[in-house]
Amino acid sequence: MIKKILLIGILVIAGGFLLMQLVPYGRNHTNPPVVNEPNWDNPETRALAERACFDCHSNETVWPWYSNIAPISWLVYHDTMEGREYLNFSEWGKGLEGEEGEEMVEQIKQGEMPMPIYLPMHPEAQLTPAEKSTLISGLLATAGGSEHEREGEAHENEAHEDERGEADGD
Ligand code: HEC
Repeated sequence: MIKKILLIGILVIAGGFLLMQLVPYGRNHTNPPVVNEPNWDNPETRALAERACFDCHSNETVWPWYSNIAPISWLVYHDTMEGREYLNFSEWGKGLEGEEGEEMVEQIKQGEMPMPIYLPMHPEAQLTPAEKSTLISGLLATAGGSEHEREGEAHENEAHEDERGEADGD
């Protein structure tokens, strides 16, 4: 009796798993052409981003074998499509509208990116603290904008101090 129940249980699970494979979602593993990469500040930045970000944020996704098997395929496909929509190193300039540098740094510092769920199967994306800070300064230099803004702010503060200095002199 118990054996029979177990057997039925296994058959139901196996059947469910096979049915999942019939769902067409997540099968379309296309890599669209690389249209426009950022102007990388140096090759090391690109290499680090390739290791930690490219699978979800470029058109050069490496689709692993298990990305063909539901339900993992659904997850991998969804994260890749959503990731590309937010930030795509192969279609640079779309999406974050000049906020790329700041956003990327924030995500890395907060440990949100690369997505933690991605790391067990991708140890190469697990960056050491040194690699992280290299990537962060490289991404800032590559994306431009924010670093310059901060420089601008610094100059502004200097200017205010000068004004104050003059006022004190009077
Ligand atoms: C496993 C897939 C995956 C990897 C690897 C990955 N990302 Fe993401 N990323 C996503 C997804 C999905 C989103 C959109 C949903 C979200 O914000 O969580 C996203 C969003 C982002 C955003 C936009 C956040 C916002 O809310 O505007 C930035 C910036 C970002 N990622 C940077 C990076 C950087 C930098 C790396 C590499 C260090 C990286 N990501 C690695 C999947 C990934």
